[in-house]
Amino acid sequence: MSGTSLDGIDVAVIETDGKARVLFGPALTIPYERAFRERLRGVLGGKGPLRAVEGELTRLHAEAVLRFRRDHPETAVDIIGFHGHTILHRPAEGRTWQLGDGALLARLCGSDVVADFRSADVKAGGEGAPLAPLFHRALAASLEKPLVVFNIGGVANLTWIGEGAPGEEEILAFDTGPGNALIDDWVLAQSGAEADWDGALASAGKAREDIVEAILSAPFFARKPPKSLDRDDFRGAMPNGLGLEEGAASLTELTAAAAAAARRHFPRPARRWLVCGGGRKNRAMMAALARRLEAPVEAVEAVGWEGDALEAQAFAFLAVRALEGLPLSLPATTGVSRPTLGGRLFRAAKAPLSGERGGVRRPKP
Ligand SMILES: Nc1ncnc2c1ncn2[C@@H]1O[C@H](COP(=O)(O)OP(=O)(O)O)[C@@H](O)[C@H]1O
Ligand SMILES: [Mg+2]
Repeated sequence: MSGTSLDGIDVAVIETDGKARVLFGPALTIPYERAFRERLRGVLGGKGPLRAVEGELTRLHAEAVLRFRRDHPETAVDIIGFHGHTILHRPAEGRTWQLGDGALLARLCGSDVVADFRSADVKAGGEGAPLAPLFHRALAASLEKPLVVFNIGGVANLTWIGEGAPGEEEILAFDTGPGNALIDDWVLAQSGAEADWDGALASAGKAREDIVEAILSAPFFARKPPKSLDRDDFRGAMPNGLGLEEGAASLTELTAAAAAAARRHFPRPARRWLVCGGGRKNRAMMAALARRLEAPVEAVEAVGWEGDALEAQAFAFLAVRALEGLPLSLPATTGVSRPTLGGRLFRAAKAPLSGERGGVRRPKP
């Protein structure tokens, strides 16, 4: 997994049937070197040396897989879910674009790969995001509900899970607003640092509530879900002239305030918020959430999950679902008109494709 934060590659192994059974294996995060991060940033929007960056991105993913295998030789891998890196997300125009060459990754790793998770959903009229909700629901089977899984990546998204029989629980998912990406961009532009580590800057500053409120008046926040955002949809929302800490505090508050604003869309209030993604390590962010949400807010580690690996695990889970012919998205998670299959299978060897199971599309010759 390579998320919109541009921070690096997350590798995680799970054992799963793509339904209720999930066992966590080891996980690994490999940060991008700054030079590659800037090359990747340079092709956001779908312009620039796409082919070259796609090749490099895919090779870095292959290196991550090979390193993971060296570290964990006991772990046999049947299938790799390869999300790629979103460089453009415009579902209203029927477009979502993840850079990443599934065929090349399969060849370099010698494993079958499922890639291209989002385009079938967008083609069928969905938002193409978020896609982790069915995984969240599987993990949350034994927890008290309603609960929210809140992922603070580059963009922030949540899954609200209500009561119901296992696998049939009521579910609702959508992007809530900006996550870490705007904070990272702000801090980078103002100070050259890569992130507001532990929220130190935001903790030292005072949020400008007037600015937070002004941004929250944008139609996106009132719009009923499903809905999703591109990384840079709220770019430039911070006015010029703010201090480093003040801007960091305001953007951090914005993410928390957008989460609070998202509650108006819930069928019933959540009893608990479980937070994953890098943003859970930002203390100012967690404090702002606790202040605004009127429910306990904890990192997902509180229930034994791994907050840095969860998205990568989700795409492993979805790869298995794709092989098994199970839907990756539902009307309540992406707004697609019916439960929708997705993913595209790339075989490691160029053996004739026979006896393929499920709903995955065959690779183009
Ligand atoms: N210790 C930390 N303190 C504050 N922010 C952090 C910390 N660790 C990671 N982050 C933030 O989390 C981001 C990565 O989060 P991640 O969940 O990987 O997002 P994505 O899915 O968009 O890649 C980083 O870019 C940074 O903004
Ligand atoms: Mg990441």
